[in-house]
Amino acid sequence: MSVTVRVPAKVNVQLAVGAARPDGFHDLANVFLAVGLHDEVTVSPADELRVTCAGPDAHQVPLDRTNLAARAALVLAERRGLGEPAVHIHIAKDIPVAGGMAGGSADGAGALLACDALWGTHASREELLDICAELGSDVPFSLVGGAALGTGRGEKLRALEVGGSFHWVFAMAGRGLSTPAVFREFDRLAEGRDIPEPVASEALLDALADGDPGALAAAVSNDLQPAALSLFPELADTLAAGRAAGALAALVSGSGPTTAFLTRDPESAAKVAEGLTASGTCRSVRTAAGPAAGATVLSA
Ligand code: C5P
Repeated sequence: MSVTVRVPAKVNVQLAVGAARPDGFHDLANVFLAVGLHDEVTVSPADELRVTCAGPDAHQVPLDRTNLAARAALVLAERRGLGEPAVHIHIAKDIPVAGGMAGGSADGAGALLACDALWGTHASREELLDICAELGSDVPFSLVGGAALGTGRGEKLRALEVGGSFHWVFAMAGRGLSTPAVFREFDRLAEGRDIPEPVASEALLDALADGDPGALAAAVSNDLQPAALSLFPELADTLAAGRAAGALAALVSGSGPTTAFLTRDPESAAKVAEGLTASGTCRSVRTAAGPAAGATVLSA
């Protein structure tokens, strides 16, 4: 008996970042869009907790208890008094690792939903979301998918209406960036400046609701982008290459270093992907559309 859950990656179409809070986190207005790049998390009974991973980036994935998938199993088992979870968690990884696309968060949400089904613990949606928030700021969104505005540290979600499909190209970088390091760089760059309260852009929410890629392109923003570029200056070349290839908008995805390019339709996405590949400014290139569904049980 095993359970497989499919979980999407995300891109942040707006990431407004406030000043550092006393707990070290930052208040955000984080507009998430789930996109059709997926990890698949399969859980099956085993003698002890074990994590394995397959895929092009698998060697970069920690297989110990720091992996969010392992933590999800540990938290659910502890809350239900099940003791040490005896489960094998296998991650078929297609989402870039340490890329700013919530790959680790996706595995946390996927493992949680899969263990809940395997163990018959029947956690309510509310409890699942609560555990996700305990695991990390982006994990609740990986569970729900679609499009949502995340406030607080990103974990308080309001579902957003989306009036169509948006076509994206993603350029994977040659190395990862650590999310805490990017937030620290944001703090360093912000020193001595007044940081406004983060608020969602009405123009951006309207563009999403209208399914209008031109209007969305004019409204996308990422306050972490200067920090990501400061730590990884070569990303500017990738952004320029995508713009030159015809992208409507080019931005760093979340804390990076994956760069995201919004295009008008699948044909222009293919053209932008070709231009980015030819530019030699990134490791690999993928196309994906959003919104995509959240964590979904495929087989049990
Ligand atoms: O919540 P999560 O574990 O994904 O966050 C990883 C790190 O990113 C945090 O330790 C913190 O340094 C930074 N972060 C932040 N503000 C947020 C979300 C994350 O400073 N709202």
